[in-house]
Amino acid sequence: MTRGKLILIEGLDRTGKSTQTAKLVESLNGEASLVKFPDRSTQIGGLIHQYLTEPDFHLPDQAIHLLFSANRWEVAQTIKKTLAQGKHVVLDRYVYSGIAYSAAKQTPGMDLRWCAQPDKGLLKPDLTFFLSNAESGLRQGFGEERYESTEFQAKVREQFVAIFDTFEEAAYKKSHIVFLDTTNQSITQVHELVHSATTEFIRKNAEIDEFMYF
Ligand code: TMP
Repeated sequence: MTRGKLILIEGLDRTGKSTQTAKLVESLNGEASLVKFPDRSTQIGGLIHQYLTEPDFHLPDQAIHLLFSANRWEVAQTIKKTLAQGKHVVLDRYVYSGIAYSAAKQTPGMDLRWCAQPDKGLLKPDLTFFLSNAESGLRQGFGEERYESTEFQAKVREQFVAIFDTFEEAAYKKSHIVFLDTTNQSITQVHELVHSATTEFIRKNAEIDEFMYF
């Protein structure tokens, strides 16, 4: 039996990631499980939730960055075990969000490489969808959580672009990352694109058994 595939859906806030990850898992008919980051159900996730929702809950930028990473490390073994059992795992946000949101703060010393370091050694996705739309980062109407402002989202968008340019080689981008502009596309249309690209990828790469790491 070959291992399952690690599929990631990334993007800015309000680009439909959670809707699309849920629909993808459902359409894979029990062959995949969903993991969302941050996982707010753990103790570390509870601190992250407090940081995101309580303006008076202060943490240094470095500390919250490390907590987001630790929150991925605490689920890392479970993800690997699931994949080893032949089941796919669909991620709603992961390492790229971790780097992009922290680097967007432009805190002295916290450059892209610093931000990428704590996630070194985590499993690398087999297939990543990066969702964007013409308005993301510019639109109004974000929610109440920290980071949900037009100005900050525009900075995050720049960081995502820089991350894919800095860390990922052209060959990896070509065969492992799908950049999906969802402007004027319905939820169903985006889902059909995501679903068909995923099933095609799984079919073509069925024999790949070795894990990749950041
Ligand atoms: P969510 O809205 O997808 O639950 O994510 C909560 C916020 O946390 C969102 O603004 C993105 C941000 N975030 C980080 O800053 N670092 C991370 O590592 C992750 C996974 C999310």
